[in-house]
Amino acid sequence: MLTVRQLLPEPADIDPAAAHAIAARPAPTSRPWVLVNMVTSVDGATAIDGVSGGLGGRSDKAVFAAIRAIADIILVAAGTARAESYGPPRTSADRQAERTKRGQTPYPRLALVSRSLDLDPDAVLFTQAPEKPLVFTVSTASAARREALGGRAEVVDMDGQGGGVDLPKMMTYLHNLGARTVLAEGGPGLNGQLVADGLLDELNLSLSPILVGGDSARLTRGADASPEPLTLAHLWESDGMLFARYVRRGGA
Ligand SMILES: NC(=O)c1ccc[n+]([C@@H]2O[C@H](COP(=O)([O-])OP(=O)(O)OC[C@H]3O[C@@H](n4cnc5c(N)ncnc54)[C@H](OP(=O)(O)O)[C@@H]3O)[C@@H](O)[C@H]2O)c1
Repeated sequence: MLTVRQLLPEPADIDPAAAHAIAARPAPTSRPWVLVNMVTSVDGATAIDGVSGGLGGRSDKAVFAAIRAIADIILVAAGTARAESYGPPRTSADRQAERTKRGQTPYPRLALVSRSLDLDPDAVLFTQAPEKPLVFTVSTASAARREALGGRAEVVDMDGQGGGVDLPKMMTYLHNLGARTVLAEGGPGLNGQLVADGLLDELNLSLSPILVGGDSARLTRGADASPEPLTLAHLWESDGMLFARYVRRGGA
């Protein structure tokens, strides 16, 4: 088990999985608690050569797994699923047992958003998923692609006004499926919409001690949103990486 050094709220050695499992996440009444987890370089890059892998490390992987372990749904935008060759969510046997004890399914369920449905039905995220992924799309998406995904995913139309999936409605849908915690894993385009729609309750930021330069997207992109003050709930350090958990003020 990897421990990290907690700097705030008080110094301590912390097991990331245990700490995330007991963190307060009071879901609003009609939608799940929505958290984002992202890793960036010190100068704000979210990708190196188009993927995030070069930004993380051993401790980032442990914190990433700890956060995944508490999610009912892992939400990812199609751009990230394609760029990062997404696989099905995996959790260790211990984490599965803890989830079951908390009344969760052994694994989080994967949910994607895509306008185009340009998703490979033979990708392992579909063929090896413990539970059929949800794919939220719009009614104008290609009929052929919809049919190709048919047996391997639950495709749900959720048209929004801007031509994409209506994220607030999608959250209500997930709430009605029983989801209490939705972990969004990006990318920046999806994160930007979550902020603009006022849906983000928690941000887990892993800050990697590296400078990247270039013009990689920052953590959010898209339309301007009203500034949202956050509270720093914890700050951890390991291998020079900083792990900050921010929650919406008045959230948890
Ligand atoms: N550092 C990190 O922690 C981290 C995490 C995640 C991603 N990333 C990086 O971020 C990059 C990808 O991010 P990105 O911002 O370019 O793309 P993205 O947000 O991952 O994906 C954009 C795509 O998602 C779909 N989408 C998003 N919102 C939608 C909506 N409301 N309705 C319907 N479809 C919607 C569309 O898919 P279709 O094109 O299929 O219609 C859209 O083209 C990659 O380089 C990845 O490595 C980094």
